[in-house]
Amino acid sequence: MACRLEGKVAIITGAAGGIGEATARIFTSHGALVVIADIKDELGARVVASIGPEKCQYKRCDVRNEKEVEELVDFTIKAYGRLDIMFSNAGMSEKATSTILDMDFDVLDNVMAVNFRGVAATIKHAARAMVASGARGSIICTASIAVTKGGFGPAAYTASKLAVVGLVRSAAAELGRHGIRANCISPGGVATPLTMEYFGLTQSQVEERAETGMVLKGGGTLKASDIGEAALFLASDESAFVTGQNLIVDGGRTVGATPAAPAAQVK
Ligand SMILES: NC(=O)c1ccc[n+]([C@@H]2O[C@H](COP(=O)([O-])OP(=O)(O)OC[C@H]3O[C@@H](n4cnc5c(N)ncnc54)[C@H](O)[C@@H]3O)[C@@H](O)[C@H]2O)c1
Repeated sequence: MACRLEGKVAIITGAAGGIGEATARIFTSHGALVVIADIKDELGARVVASIGPEKCQYKRCDVRNEKEVEELVDFTIKAYGRLDIMFSNAGMSEKATSTILDMDFDVLDNVMAVNFRGVAATIKHAARAMVASGARGSIICTASIAVTKGGFGPAAYTASKLAVVGLVRSAAAELGRHGIRANCISPGGVATPLTMEYFGLTQSQVEERAETGMVLKGGGTLKASDIGEAALFLASDESAFVTGQNLIVDGGRTVGATPAAPAAQVK
């Protein structure tokens, strides 16, 4: 297998499980050294033990706290000497049952603090380190298919993810002169601790539900590793001229209505 990230150093936030963990496995298998950042210390340590401590390390970082994000970047540079990739992926959502009519503003503040402020802090401090070292870095932020239309997620979550797209566009425009790229990935329908808790469903129930909405059939269900493969593309030099984009990875859930679109048949 070609090593597409040989010699590169990455930080992945929210990597103690789900999409972040799957991406850490893919990045390290392609030669990157990875710092796994999360607030779930036990799970983070378990991920490091399972991937191998020679390829990754765990650093606790609550992305709501800018100081902790700055320390995460400093830790990475002390540990591995450089920073090439920031995968700003940590995220959370308010409850699925919450609507505008009963919006709780403490909850809204927390969703924005993690999903928006946290992403802004990771972009800021990763970009400062990349500019200082002259690294032609890649910043990738996890948005969501919720940015494509209303109803995929509750209001604060949807707004926070749209804000991430705005941040990334601004970052791409401002950082391009330093050779730094910034892009989003928008997953849709991966069974992870977040989505299982959100829907109150088991892994197979979330997968079945997501697969039903996908226009792409026959390939099974969308996995965390499919999002990780998209992150690998955006992290690697293969996407050298891709910046300011939002790559939607959802099996076509958002390109057409499955029941409304006529099924193409060879006649
Ligand atoms: N699973 C999907 O279908 C889906 C769809 C759209 C978007 N997303 C986004 O993908 C990202 C990853 O989610 P996932 O589905 O893998 O869920 P997940 O719950 O497995 O992963 C999210 C991780 O973020 C961490 N986290 C939460 N708050 C944090 C904080 N303050 N500081 C640091 N880490 C924190 C959690 O501990 C967890 O490990 C999130 O941004 C989520 O919004 C997921």
